[in-house]
Amino acid sequence: MVKVAVLISGGGTNLQALIDACAQDGFPAEILKVFSNVPDAYGLERAKKAGIDTMVINHRDFESREAFEERLHTEITASGAKLICLAGFMRILDARFVNRWKNRMLNIHPSLLPAFRGLHTQERALEAGVRFSGCTVHFVNPELDDGPIINQAVIAINPNETAEELAARVLELEHLIYPQALKLVAEGRVRVVSNKIRISNTDYADKNIINPVIE
Ligand code: GRF
Repeated sequence: MVKVAVLISGGGTNLQALIDACAQDGFPAEILKVFSNVPDAYGLERAKKAGIDTMVINHRDFESREAFEERLHTEITASGAKLICLAGFMRILDARFVNRWKNRMLNIHPSLLPAFRGLHTQERALEAGVRFSGCTVHFVNPELDDGPIINQAVIAINPNETAEELAARVLELEHLIYPQALKLVAEGRVRVVSNKIRISNTDYADKNIINPVIE
């Protein structure tokens, strides 16, 4: 059983998807603790309802990013977690922290990386006139929204769709692929080779499940 810490800053719907997955029989990961940098993040309530330990580490209480991240690292390590899932955690983590958790920290991003790193991804996708959007789960590298891609889901953009509508449809896919990525990693099937992911024992059907294309 792989022990996980989840870091959030907001509503925590991805956290909820991970909580629900971990509650299933035979799921190979367990969430030990949920950390938030925002004291009133609704995701904290979700964790409490599921009986999961929570902790607020408010970045505003620290005089530097370094001091904040040092505390975060200490508390995550103390929780017993061996893997971090970032789930709507809205702080940039610097290289020192990221390298301490190299290939042991996952993030979900609402675009088909490497396109549209950063914020407002669906607005920018519509602005660019791309035909497809989606989401990506990846290991975290020190650069923003960068790192080996574990899985992605693709969605066709509808004509006249608003950014909000598109974001809501992509969010549903996020809830699908984040637990799948965590499962693959927790099963020990994910290896990083030359900054790319190799997934062992993947047959054709599996590939479709892992990287769904939604019409
Ligand atoms: C998601 O869109 C995620 O991809 C991004 O932040 C959002 C968090 O949503 N990193 P939630 O808090 O999981 O509902």
